Amino acid sequence: MCWIRRAVTLIGVFLFICSSDVAVVSAQYGEYYYSQIPRKITTIRPHQPSYGGQQAYEAQRGYGGLQSLQGQQSQGQQSYGGHQAFGAQQSYGGHQSYPDQQSYRGQPNINAKPRLQYRCREDNQQYDCVFYDVHINAQTLATHDVIFGFDDVTLNSQKNVTFKNSTMRTLPETFLRSFGQVELLNLNDLQIEEVESNAFETANTIQKLHMSFNAIRYLPPNAFQNLRSLTELLLDRNMLKNLPRTMFYGTPNLTVLSISNNNLELIEDGTFQANSALQLLEMVSNKLTHFDLSRVPSLYHGNFSFNQLTTLALPVSVESLDASHNRINVVRGPENENLFLLKLQHNNLNDTAWLLSYPGLIEVDLSYNELEKITFRHFVNMKRLQRLYVSNNRLVALNLGNGPIPTLNVLDLSYNHLVHVERNQAQFDTVEYLNLHHNSIVTLKLASNHSVKVLTLSHNDWDCKNLRELLEITPPPTASDRDQSCKIDYQLEHNLCCKESEKPYLDRLIQYILETTAAEKLQRAQGRCSAEDAITSVQSLSHFITEKGGEQLPSNQQLQAEVKVLDTEVHSLTNQQTQLEHLLQNLHTEIDANLRLYRLQKDGLARPSDNLKKVFTHLKERHAFKLRESQARRGEANSKQSETETLEQENIALQTQLDNRKEVLNQLKQETTLKRKKVKMLEAKKNRNPDTRHITK
Ligand SMILES: *[C@@H]1O[C@H](CO)[C@@H](O)[C@H](O)[C@H]1NC(C)=O
Ligand SMILES: *[C@@H]1O[C@H](CO)[C@@H](O)[C@H](O)[C@H]1NC(C)=O
Ligand SMILES: *[C@@H]1O[C@H](CO)[C@@H](O)[C@H](O)[C@H]1NC(C)=O
Ligand SMILES: *[C@@H]1O[C@H](CO)[C@@H](O)[C@H](O)[C@H]1NC(C)=O
Ligand SMILES: *[C@@H]1O[C@H](CO)[C@@H](O)[C@H](O)[C@H]1NC(C)=O
Ligand SMILES: *[C@@H]1O[C@H](CO)[C@@H](O)[C@H](O)[C@H]1NC(C)=O
Repeated sequence: MCWIRRAVTLIGVFLFICSSDVAVVSAQYGEYYYSQIPRKITTIRPHQPSYGGQQAYEAQRGYGGLQSLQGQQSQGQQSYGGHQAFGAQQSYGGHQSYPDQQSYRGQPNINAKPRLQYRCREDNQQYDCVFYDVHINAQTLATHDVIFGFDDVTLNSQKNVTFKNSTMRTLPETFLRSFGQVELLNLNDLQIEEVESNAFETANTIQKLHMSFNAIRYLPPNAFQNLRSLTELLLDRNMLKNLPRTMFYGTPNLTVLSISNNNLELIEDGTFQANSALQLLEMVSNKLTHFDLSRVPSLYHGNFSFNQLTTLALPVSVESLDASHNRINVVRGPENENLFLLKLQHNNLNDTAWLLSYPGLIEVDLSYNELEKITFRHFVNMKRLQRLYVSNNRLVALNLGNGPIPTLNVLDLSYNHLVHVERNQAQFDTVEYLNLHHNSIVTLKLASNHSVKVLTLSHNDWDCKNLRELLEITPPPTASDRDQSCKIDYQLEHNLCCKESEKPYLDRLIQYILETTAAEKLQRAQGRCSAEDAITSVQSLSHFITEKGGEQLPSNQQLQAEVKVLDTEVHSLTNQQTQLEHLLQNLHTEIDANLRLYRLQKDGLARPSDNLKKVFTHLKERHAFKLRESQARRGEANSKQSETETLEQENIALQTQLDNRKEVLNQLKQETTLKRKKVKMLEAKKNRNPDTRHITK
C-alpha cells in the first residue's frame, strides 16, 4: 500500500511540475437559481439544450494547490438562504483518480473479486468530494468489488459529492452505502443507463439529486422511496417514457422536479398525491398528452411547453405557468388569484371565457392560437393585466372599448383580420404599446391626449384622409413598420399605403364583393368535381380490385361481373378520354398556331383557354379596328361621290351655258351673214352709182 501511495504522490508531483492541462468544467447548469425559502423562486432557466452529454474541457493552465488524499474536511454550516448558482465554473488542478486495484488487509482472500477503489478529491467550489475518471459498467460491477472512498465509512462524511470525466453506465448500490451523509449528489452526465432498484436505499440524507444528461430509460418504481429528505430532483435530458405512479410516494419534501427533454407520454393522476411541497415542476419538451396539473395544488411555477397537451387544468395557486407549444383547446380549473404569468402561445385556443377565473394576471400570451374575437366581457375581472398578446390569431372582432382594461400597457393585435376597430378607442388611448400591423384596418381614431408611445400600422387598408389626421397626433412610425409597394388604387403616404375614397367602408365592401364573386367564378370554372377526377378514382378502384381482388375474391361471381362491367366502362371512358385529350391537344396546337399567326405572346403558365381568350380578344380588337377603318373609307368614298355629282351638275350647267353661247354665236353668225348680205346689196347698189365707188373701197 505504502509504495502505491508514494507512486501516486510522485505522479502528483510530476503532474504538478510538468502537466500543462487543467480542466475547466463548464457549468452544467447555465444558471439555475432556486432559493430554498418557499415561495421565493425567482428565475428558472432550463438547461442548455446544446449540451450533448459530453463535458467541455478547456485546456487552460493555472493551478496549484496540494492534493489532499484525506477524505475528511470540516463541514461548516451550510447556508441555504438566498440564491445559489449551481455549477459556477469549477477549476481544479492535477487530479487523478485512485483506482486502487489491490487486495489488501493483510490476509489475501482467495474468493474475493479484485477490488476497484475510487477516492474523491476536494473541490473549492460547491463540492467537498469530486471523483475523477471513474468508469463503471455492469461488467465492472460483476467482476470487481467496487469501493468508493475509505473502507472506514465514517471517514466518508462528505455532503456534496460529484463526478467529473467519468462514466457510470450503472449506478451501483454500494456507492451510497459508503457515503451515508450525502446531501447534494450530482450524477449529471455520466451516461447512466440503469439505476439499481436499491441504489438509493440508504440515501435518506440526500436533499438534492441531479441526474440530468444521462441515458436513463426506466426508473424502478421504488427507486426513490427512501429519499425522505429529497427536495430537488433533476432528470433532464434522459430518455424516460413514463413515471411509475408510486415513484414519488416516499419523497414528501420534494419541492423542485425537472424532467425536461425526455420522452414522457403522460402523467397519471395521483402521481404527485404525496408531494404537498412540490412547487416547481418542469417537463419541457416531452410528449405529454395528459397531465392534470390541478392535482398538484402546491404548484407554484410550471413549465410544460413543447408537449402535446390538449387540456390545461390549472392548479389552485400556481403563479406562473408556461404551456406554450401544445395543442391546448380547453383551459379549466378553480379560481386562482395568484396566477400572474400565463404563456399559452402556439396552441389551439378558440375561446377566452376561462380568463374570468384569473383576475390576477399581469401578462397573458395567447398569440398563435385560433381566437376569432376578443371581448371586454372576459376581462372585466382583471385587476392588474398589463400585457396582452393576441397576435397571429384569426381575430375579426375586437371589443374592448365598452370596458377598457385600465392597467393595460401592451396590446399586440398584429397578424389578424381586423377591419373596424374604432369602437376600441377608449382602450387604445390608454396603452403605451399598440401593435396593429398586418390587419385590414381602414380607420383608427385616437384622442389627442392618448398615451401611445409605440404604434405599428403597416400592412393595413388605410383610408388616406383618416391616416393623415391620425399621423398628426401619433408618434412617427418606426423604421421597420412601413409598407413597400401599394396595391392598385392605393398610394404611399408617410410610408404607409392608403386609398382615397369618399366612403371608405362602402368602398371596401364593394371591393370585397367584387373580389369574392371573382373568386367564386374562378372556383366554379376550375370545377371542384371534374370528369377527370371521376375517371382517376374509377381507375384506381379498378387497379385496387385487380390487385387485391384477384387473390381474395376469386369466387365472388357477382363482384367479378361488376368488375368486368366497370372495366369495360373504364376502358371506354379511357378511350373517350384519350380521344378528348387528342382533341384538346389539337385545339391547343391550333391555339398556338393562332397565337403565332397573330404574333401574340404565349403565356406559358396560363391555361390554353386563357391564351385562346387572348386570341379572341386580339381578333375582336382587330375586327373593331378594321370596321372602324372601312367605315372611314366608306365615308371618304361617299364624300368623293357627292363631289363627283356636284361636278357633274356643274358640268351640265356649263354645257348648257356653252350651248346657249353657241346659239347666240349662231344667231350672231346669221345676223352677220344677213348684215353682210345687206352690205353687199348696199355695195352693189352703190357701185351702180360710180361717183361713190371710191368711198366704199
Ligand atoms: C454544498 O452544496 C450547497 C448547495 O446545494 C452549498 O450551499 C454548500 O456550500 C455546498 N457545501 C460545500 C461543502 O461545498
Ligand atoms: C478523462 O479521462 C480520460 C480517460 O478516460 C483521460 O485520458 C483524460 O485525461 C481525462 N481527462 C481529464 C481532464 O481528466
Ligand atoms: C421536510 O420538511 C420539513 C419542513 O421543511 C422539515 O421539518 C422536515 O424535517 C423535512 N423532512 C425530512 C425527512 O427531511
Ligand atoms: C419554459 O421553457 C422554455 C423552453 O426551455 C423556455 O423557452 C421558456 O422561457 C420557459 N418559460 C418560462 C416561463 O420560464
Ligand atoms: C372551439 O373549438 C371546440 C372544439 O374544437 C368547438 O367545440 C367549439 O365550438 C369552438 N368554440 C368556438 C367559440 O368556436
Ligand atoms: C383625455 O381627456 C379626456 C377629457 O378631455 C379625459 O376624459 C380622458 O381621461 C383623457 N385621457 C387620457 C388618456 O388622459
